[in-house]
Amino acid sequence: MASESIDLPSAIAQIASDIDAAFDAVLQNPGDARSRLYDAMRYSAIGGGKRLRPLLLSATAALFNVDRDAAISAGLAVEAIHVYSLIHDDLPCMDDDAMRRGKPTAHLEFDEATAVLAGDALLALAFEVLSDPKLHPDPFVRNELVATLARASGPSGMAGGQMMDLEAEKSSFDLATITRLQHLKTGALIDASVEMGAILGHVQEEGRLHLRGYAQNIGLAFQIADDIIDVEGDAETAGKALQKDAAAGKETFVSLMGLDRAKEQAQILVDQAIEHLNGYGKEADLLRSIARYIVERDR
Ligand code: IPE
Ligand code: IPE
Ligand code: MG
Ligand code: MG
Ligand code: MG
Repeated sequence: MASESIDLPSAIAQIASDIDAAFDAVLQNPGDARSRLYDAMRYSAIGGGKRLRPLLLSATAALFNVDRDAAISAGLAVEAIHVYSLIHDDLPCMDDDAMRRGKPTAHLEFDEATAVLAGDALLALAFEVLSDPKLHPDPFVRNELVATLARASGPSGMAGGQMMDLEAEKSSFDLATITRLQHLKTGALIDASVEMGAILGHVQEEGRLHLRGYAQNIGLAFQIADDIIDVEGDAETAGKALQKDAAAGKETFVSLMGLDRAKEQAQILVDQAIEHLNGYGKEADLLRSIARYIVERDR
């Protein structure tokens, strides 16, 4: 059995420093004409964000005694996709945002062309890292990691959800469509993070069902919390501009359900997520704490 989980604040601090160190190692600036690209990638990827996806991946992997270095490398891959999605999400042609993780957005700190390339390069980096035999000796494991993250990033995942999100500015979606949108835009990468922890742990299909239930419930709760923060959060704490959804005329969980019901719904989803872990003992306490943190957070 896996060793007992560490507490959430220590786990968050640990994953933040591990992911920063891992990005630093793979993004050494070559000091040639590509310097600006490396600078923009480092600027966006190092030293910020909650690192929720690598945290979920490593906490899931730890249930099955996976080597921590492998979990960190796979976590870096998911985080690279996430950071790329944020750089592109902030561009003038998408949300046109000026602040991200408490700093000017990449296209303002650098320029639009550099920001587009930094996003492209982080997307490619994710798959370079996952397909590297240094991550895992078994090519079947590497292939499943690559396929899982690719599916979660493309038109059946994050990019598809971003397309629906842009459409949401023009059409008025109902709750079922908003749920699907959020599941693709945000849920897919959260699902993939948990799934990749299970893949590294050689968990077979049956053993993954409850982990998937956990991930799907926290993914939805996570996006409801993001929508709540957008309405009533503090921009400085959040590190990004808020009240953007209503300004863009977008339906969200909050606009459709109201704040009180959205909060209730998020809590129900967290409780359901935790129930999916009933087959595990104390070794899943970190995953339980992460589920609670997802709705209690203010950034
Ligand atoms: C923000 O994600 C964008 C969404 C997918 C809602 P996070 O809230 O995980 O952002 P960071 O990584 O902490 O900056
Ligand atoms: C961004 O969603 C989701 C992705 C980048 C996939 P949002 O546009 O709601 O995220 P924030 O609020 O800018 O962080
Ligand atoms: Mg957006
Ligand atoms: Mg945005
Ligand atoms: Mg948002």
